[in-house]
Amino acid sequence: MSYLHCIDHPLAADLMTRLRDRTTKQAKYRALCDRITFPLALEAGKVLGLEEREVETPLETTTGHRLAESIVLVPILRAGLGMLASFLQLYPRSSVGILGLERDEETAKADTYYCKLPKLEGAQTFLLDPMLATGGSACRGLHMVRKRGAAPDTTIISIIASPEGVERVHAEFPEVRIITAAVDRGLNEHRYILPGLGDFGDRLFGT
Ligand code: PRP
Ligand code: URA
Repeated sequence: MSYLHCIDHPLAADLMTRLRDRTTKQAKYRALCDRITFPLALEAGKVLGLEEREVETPLETTTGHRLAESIVLVPILRAGLGMLASFLQLYPRSSVGILGLERDEETAKADTYYCKLPKLEGAQTFLLDPMLATGGSACRGLHMVRKRGAAPDTTIISIIASPEGVERVHAEFPEVRIITAAVDRGLNEHRYILPGLGDFGDRLFGT
């Protein structure tokens, strides 16, 4: 069954509303992006395997756990960079692969302009892209990471998804897990998400 998880938390709802607000300025926008990414990163990490390890507390020895899997974070340039810092704070030993994709303004087709990926076999790959609009960029990114050995149940993490984007990703990659903070109404004639938050990359980088 296709996996879509939309985080449901009062803090996330508050942060999302402030991110959407057109009057939110760049520095605040970046800080909100960092904060909304934390619950998404925690949710993404639920798939991580654990192994047991002994730990000595000040009083006795007990059995604890440590993360047993390697993680590869793959932000999709540019906007995915806005999610990287929070993921690295929670999973500091992750490797990082970079994919540069850009939508054509007319056709919304995503073209690749950069790709540098570490080994993905045996790792949990977390693809980071804040906007899942038509799903073209996500599918392109998924094709690339799958070709390099990422598992079929790779996770894509967005901040806002459209129903069209979710449907397209699951039609092409039925096993992919999608984690998001909001599923919005749909796309406008320029394939922007409504109500959305506008152009994520422009707001993050001030272009
Ligand atoms: C935006 C966004 C996603 C993509 C989503 O990137 O960051 O990558 O559009 O749209 P899609 O689902 O229709 O493919 P954009 O191409 O504008 O590049 P940027 O991140 O450099 O701003
Ligand atoms: N990319 C964005 O930044 N925003 C959208 O609404 C769609 C694609």
